[in-house]
Amino acid sequence: MLELKKNPFKPNVIENNPTAFGLRTKEIVFSITSLLNDNSIFITGSRGIGKSSLGLQLQKVMSGNETLLKRCNIKNTENDVLCIYYACAEDTTIEDLCLDILYELEQEILLLPKIKLAKIKPSLELNFGIIKAKFETEIESNRRSPSSIANRFVNGLRAIYTDALKLNVFTAINIMIDEVDQLPTSINFGHFIKIIHETLNNRGCNKLTFLFAGQLGSYTRFNKEDPSFERIVKCITLDRLSWEASNYILDYASATSTPKFEIKEDARKLILSLSSGYPYIVHLIGDSCFNEMSDDNIITKTIVLSALEVILLTDKREKFTEKLRELNDMERELIFFMASQSVNMLPAEIPYNSIYDKDNDNSDIKKQLDLLLNSLITKGYLYSINDKALYIFSEELFRIFVSYIKIELSITKTARREFSDMNTNINLLKERLEQDEKHLEMELEGEYSNSAEANYVSPEEKKQLFNEYISSRMPTKYSNAWEEDNFKK
Ligand SMILES: Nc1ncnc2c1ncn2[C@@H]1O[C@H](COP(=O)(O)OP(=O)(O)OP(=O)(O)O)[C@@H](O)[C@H]1O
Ligand SMILES: [Mg+2]
Repeated sequence: MLELKKNPFKPNVIENNPTAFGLRTKEIVFSITSLLNDNSIFITGSRGIGKSSLGLQLQKVMSGNETLLKRCNIKNTENDVLCIYYACAEDTTIEDLCLDILYELEQEILLLPKIKLAKIKPSLELNFGIIKAKFETEIESNRRSPSSIANRFVNGLRAIYTDALKLNVFTAINIMIDEVDQLPTSINFGHFIKIIHETLNNRGCNKLTFLFAGQLGSYTRFNKEDPSFERIVKCITLDRLSWEASNYILDYASATSTPKFEIKEDARKLILSLSSGYPYIVHLIGDSCFNEMSDDNIITKTIVLSALEVILLTDKREKFTEKLRELNDMERELIFFMASQSVNMLPAEIPYNSIYDKDNDNSDIKKQLDLLLNSLITKGYLYSINDKALYIFSEELFRIFVSYIKIELSITKTARREFSDMNTNINLLKERLEQDEKHLEMELEGEYSNSAEANYVSPEEKKQLFNEYISSRMPTKYSNAWEEDNFKK
């Protein structure tokens, strides 16, 4: 009988299963110690590094699930923390945030078996309803200042906190606020949190902690908004995941999927070095490999390479093109140059010497180059190891995309013009992509007799080009160089 396949990879889902989680023991110990000692924390790091997943794992531990700490070999204390999760959006107002959090807390308590609720406080439901309704009318009837909203929010929290602890079911409350970088700056969230923290403490609610998560830079932003933020909330910056932990994600997936599958050693190394410590990429490539896998249930290097083709030619094309657009002309020029260096290792290590010609000593050029490299590091495109002797792309997939796209572009007239003219013009790149889409549409509608006349590369040609690129430019040596960068920090 045919067995339905169950893909174990989840590139778009937060990892909340403590058995599937690739361990970050150092970060877990630091975070959980802070939280269980009633300190709030802020998890920050680049996109897809695993902030939300770590946050939810910590909440699992706090609400009594022992799996993760056992896996980290840490003796567990008993925890019964009431945990709720809230994700911010661009249009979140401070009123929405407060109301939704109060509502979530209320719902969590109301989910308890009636018997537990009734034993302690028969009219609990009514009370919480009142708190929320009161808060709503108070802030609606008169637009309040942020500090006045904060005070009312604290009153609501305190009422729930007191009742929650009285129930003898919960020992503390933890509120995770994810995607805080999305909040508009007009909110002055840093200052808002400071007021909440102080008022809660003044009123004896010290067993209520916050767990924030947001992109790199948001912690700095909130510190600027209120310098006390740093004192109140401890920061955890997530490094890339180790080779071993990333490998665990693959092992776990291959052992728990239906059907189980095998990953050949060279395929595994290729996936791990391509993902260079981003759990998101392990899932992304894994997911694509699983879909490409044939009935023998073996993931080979060939399968990884065709998965890569699908990812770079379709899924990620738009995102990576946008990433190129976000750079200024000089930075883009340098990125193109660095990405096209011939390399013998994945992720590619690009020697400073290959970018700067020492023999042609020119301190002005050197200064300008160093500034550009620093800016690309700050923007998260690159990192350096060995005392800035080697540069590595933060996302190896992006490097491969850039070096491939350069070839693809260069076989068209538009692109040749673009690259012969040293001032690469962003609009040209954009125009070409728009043209590509238009031509594709026309081609699909049969408006061209042959695609060459349109100066356009068809999907089939792109595939062929990509395969040629892979067979001639893809190194077969793999490294875990990013661990050295983690270690340095
Ligand atoms: N330690 C881990 N082990 C296994 N999978 C993980 C781990 N961390 C993250 N993931 C997976 O990586 C992907 C990205 O994780 P997550 O959404 O937590 O990252 P993030 O940093 O919050 O991303 P964003 O910046 O987009 O909010 C998800 O598919 C998740 O399942
Ligand atoms: Mg997230």
